[in-house]
Amino acid sequence: MSQLIAGNWKMNGVAAALSEIDALAVSLTDRPAACDVLVCPPATLIERASHVSRNRIALGGQDCHAEISGAFTGDVSAEMLRDAGATAVIVGHSERRQYHGETDAVVAAKAKAAWRAGLTAIICIGETEAERDSGKANDICKSQLAGSVPDGATSANTAIAYEPVWAIGTGKTPTSEEIAQMHAHIKAHIPAGLRILYGGSVKPANAVEILALADVGGALVGGASLKASDFLTIVRACRKSS
Ligand code: PGA
Repeated sequence: MSQLIAGNWKMNGVAAALSEIDALAVSLTDRPAACDVLVCPPATLIERASHVSRNRIALGGQDCHAEISGAFTGDVSAEMLRDAGATAVIVGHSERRQYHGETDAVVAAKAKAAWRAGLTAIICIGETEAERDSGKANDICKSQLAGSVPDGATSANTAIAYEPVWAIGTGKTPTSEEIAQMHAHIKAHIPAGLRILYGGSVKPANAVEILALADVGGALVGGASLKASDFLTIVRACRKSS
């Protein structure tokens, strides 16, 4: 399966930022990507982004509610994301777990909601720095997988994103050995064939090395996905599909 390079814009971007998606789509029309390319802008931009993505870039949400509709002020359902033009949604990002108290059970319910709406769920896991320092990273990730990945996950409906919390937005990354070790560990605890993305300070400068590692099925890119030129460099760093 080809790699997946996914951009997570977080709470960044108003209409002016659509020019970045436009520029990326133009480049990928001139020279198609060797991987799947996904951008997850704020929900407010998904529909407008679909008008400039030229079918070269898939669009996704950054979170969804587990229910289809109802009295949940401020929330967005997976069906609404799908209606806006999304084909995927990130669930269980560490910022959602940290700032919104999302538990593994909540994340699993959101992943099922994504499937119900026909979206691919990108389920995020990852240890904190203290957990890594105390030698618990493997156990933490295994337990997050057990709690957050529902039965029924397949390569068609789910990808896992391994994002060590301490590497997100910090410029720090695990060593290549640590990434390869954790991806092998994750692979051993999920259904066969699921893509395992690495996320956390992926940049043009480190993308080639990270994307060449065994069991790395792509990248989830935050800060470096906001500029088309940086994101394109990461897209071009993907491994040719095997
Ligand atoms: P970063 O964020 O690339 O800015 O570290 C990654 C993420 O949070 O998905």
